[in-house]
Amino acid sequence: MEFVDLDVESFYRVLAPRPTIIVTTVNPEGEVNAAPFSFTMPVSVNPPLIAVASVPRHHTYQNLEKTREMVVNIPSVDILKELWVTGEKFPQGVNEIEKAGLTAMDSDTVKPPWIKECLAHMECEIEFTRECGDHQLVVGRVKKVGVREDALKDGLLNAEEMKPILHLGGEDFIVGDHRKIVPK
Ligand SMILES: Cc1cc2nc3c(=O)[nH]c(=O)nc-3n(C[C@H](O)[C@H](O)[C@H](O)COP(=O)(O)O)c2cc1C
Repeated sequence: MEFVDLDVESFYRVLAPRPTIIVTTVNPEGEVNAAPFSFTMPVSVNPPLIAVASVPRHHTYQNLEKTREMVVNIPSVDILKELWVTGEKFPQGVNEIEKAGLTAMDSDTVKPPWIKECLAHMECEIEFTRECGDHQLVVGRVKKVGVREDALKDGLLNAEEMKPILHLGGEDFIVGDHRKIVPK
């Protein structure tokens, strides 16, 4: 098999499919924002830290830079259409949770709400942000995690039944419903 060179700026297209999240934030007026992100990863277990990379002009980034909180919500394929709506461009202050017909739930430790239709959510305080090329790296400290009772199996996400969404690029997604265990 021959290998071809890929434009280096497209490297992330082969670092795929990527777990896809919906980040909820509020602006200083308390108005709610929600948007999907797939540049995300865990970066520390103790303390529990999660990273998201956001284009600086996104309302998500502008909100969390000021209010220093976010909630990371884990969607399933059941709300793929709604997730797509949260990714549309709306004016600052528009609540994408409402626009998508999703349900906002009060968080315990932060102001941004979590999304009821998602499988899990992590309430986070922003630890730091750092310019990283054309994105801003956002690292949040997880203060509280809520998981749907039926979303876990043996302590792991029951992906086969819950069908998390993984982003390939653009409008293309993979449904993560196939489990493989390392052969002995
Ligand atoms: C599946 C998906 C993944 C995305 N991932 C990212 C990402 O990781 N970083 C980013 O800056 N924008 C990402 N976007 C784009 C933003 O979600 C989109 O521009 C959104 O309108 C930003 O909303 P906001 O201005 O309300 O924050 C993604 C969009 C989709 C649909």
